[in-house]
Amino acid sequence: MTTRDFAGRKRKGDKLVVLTAYDALFGRLVDEAGVDAILVGDSVGTALLGHDTTLPVTLDHMIYHAAAVRRGVKRALIVIDMPFLTYQASIERAILNCGRAIQQSGASAVKVEGGSPEMLDTVHALVRTGIPVMGHLGFTPQSVNTLGGARVQGRDAGEAERLIAEAKGLEQAGAFAVVLELVPAAVSARITAAVGIPTIGIGAGAECDGQVLVLPDMLGLNDTFEPKFLKRYAEMAEEVRSAVRSWAAEVRSGVYPDADHSF
Ligand code: KIV
Repeated sequence: MTTRDFAGRKRKGDKLVVLTAYDALFGRLVDEAGVDAILVGDSVGTALLGHDTTLPVTLDHMIYHAAAVRRGVKRALIVIDMPFLTYQASIERAILNCGRAIQQSGASAVKVEGGSPEMLDTVHALVRTGIPVMGHLGFTPQSVNTLGGARVQGRDAGEAERLIAEAKGLEQAGAFAVVLELVPAAVSARITAAVGIPTIGIGAGAECDGQVLVLPDMLGLNDTFEPKFLKRYAEMAEEVRSAVRSWAAEVRSGVYPDADHSF
């Protein structure tokens, strides 16, 4: 998959399927299951590393995880999420940090949050440098402290118009796709109709050109996280606890290891 394939999929009306992954093992499994793109999200901080927000995640963490995903994946497009403070301070720092992320992880594209005029200039500069960019609008987790929590964005008319303008701005700046997070379905539908690049929704309704979920959440590994938009396709937290309990019981009772599992 390449970033160019994304636009073609929107033209044909074929939905894009995107999942996060953070290591080679799960990268390989979701690639083998046929997803179109893998986002190595800074959600690694909350989904796997025990942080309350994505803010403590660093560029070194992201490169470490994306390089691992790269080793496991053969087909899907790999997008590396740029963490807080690596692309906001200046265009020059954004180019150097995004370039380093691509160079050292082997990912094919970066994702950055926001649609302010400054961010559009940054996206434009990144694309001119040869770095494909996925945008991210709506609830942008790196702004959690200014947004006052993980809240739906674009509920009132003014906010909705701003989101539509920002999505058009990202398209004009050269972004190849845009994530819409926690956006009312009707607003996502308007954005999707207004831009030629694919919209990838998470908590943004069915009209988006594709969907993304956080892998440990949809697998039911993070079984205490239950936002309205999330549908679980497995209950792996219980599977893990049950497997560990069975093994521990067999160790304690001397059933494991038996002759079949010994040399
Ligand atoms: O970090 C992440 O996983 C994301 C998705 C929720 C879109 O940004």
